[in-house]
Amino acid sequence: MPKIYLDNAATTRLDDEVLQAMLPLMTENFGNPSSIHSHGRQVRSAIEKARKTVAGLINASPSEIFFTSGGTEADNTAITCSIDTFGLKHAITSPTEHHAVLHTLEYLAKQGTIELSLVNLDEKGHVDLVHLEELLSTKPRSLVSLMHGNNEIGNLIDLEKVGEICKKYNAIFHSDTVQTMGHYKHDVQNTKIDFLVGAAHKFHGPKGVGFLYINADSKIHPFIHGGSQERNMRGGTENVYGIVGLAKALEIAYKEMEQHKTHIEGLKSRMIEKLKAAIPDVRFNGDSDNLERSLYTVLNVSLPPSEDNDMLLFNLDIAQISCSGGSACTSGSDVGSHVLGALNVQPERGNVRFSFGKYNTAEEIDKVVEVVAGLYGAVPQV
Ligand SMILES: Cc1ncc(COP(=O)(O)O)c(C=O)c1O
Repeated sequence: MPKIYLDNAATTRLDDEVLQAMLPLMTENFGNPSSIHSHGRQVRSAIEKARKTVAGLINASPSEIFFTSGGTEADNTAITCSIDTFGLKHAITSPTEHHAVLHTLEYLAKQGTIELSLVNLDEKGHVDLVHLEELLSTKPRSLVSLMHGNNEIGNLIDLEKVGEICKKYNAIFHSDTVQTMGHYKHDVQNTKIDFLVGAAHKFHGPKGVGFLYINADSKIHPFIHGGSQERNMRGGTENVYGIVGLAKALEIAYKEMEQHKTHIEGLKSRMIEKLKAAIPDVRFNGDSDNLERSLYTVLNVSLPPSEDNDMLLFNLDIAQISCSGGSACTSGSDVGSHVLGALNVQPERGNVRFSFGKYNTAEEIDKVVEVVAGLYGAVPQV
């Protein structure tokens, strides 16, 4: 049986067109973009073209786009350097953030740099906006870091609404938009936001490259010190083929967004319906099965208690199905998911995250449901 890849929230397959755009930067166009000779200038111009493309797509100015090594570095930069630059003493985040955010803020709190508050969640894992306002009105000027789309359960926040609330209390607003960049349209002119981030490998671009949008009104100090690259904001010779690949991948993602959204949303709905028909006690973690309030790319399934649940991912792997038990960034360690932990998910149930991409098919979904149903002694209704 051919392998089935349903772990697109962990990473995605590189688009062939993206690879073609990157190849010349690995071969004939090998100059260092900081060199002033023609070899260097040629590569510099490729980087600046990529910056202009990314800026145009999210309606920012090219001077507001900074390339990084990925989502983690972009999150670390926004959080650490905004707290430092603006002298912030308090930050607010949620217990279900990615570790790129949560561990950074916990580290700063442990160092005594900030006090950290966690905003309450409702029973579906959505951020309690009334509590957010309560915190903002009683604490000193804050950094608010709330992810747009959760990588494990898919829950979405209303970015515009949170931006308005932050503005009202003069807070700095950073959103980890790694899971929505390339899948949802971002327009920084319509969202009151200081920082947002992207990681190319989540939208069919290369790994090890991302970007940080820094609002022109919220300039911060650099995170990585060194040479004068990225207009003195990030030292180090640029990942030129990565940057060119990122811009190409984002361009394709924006161009094909509606078509892919319809296709992928269809796959997710199909899986929800087929699982419900096959396994009466199937549930969905967070608000994962709510198509309005969760990522169309992520479905976090809660399967009935079984003594084989410890082996669930292993059994799916044996059946040639790649998916995840939580965030891929923590898979491989035996620490449970902090996101499911925050939602008080029953530990005896089997939790599995399926995440879909443009290369997946309806036949693959049907096959996966058949295998999952088989593991629980149920019969899929085709
Ligand atoms: C929500 C979220 N933030 C940040 C990251 C980290 O991105 P990167 O792997 O590019 O450093 C990930 C990756 O899984 C993610 O899903």
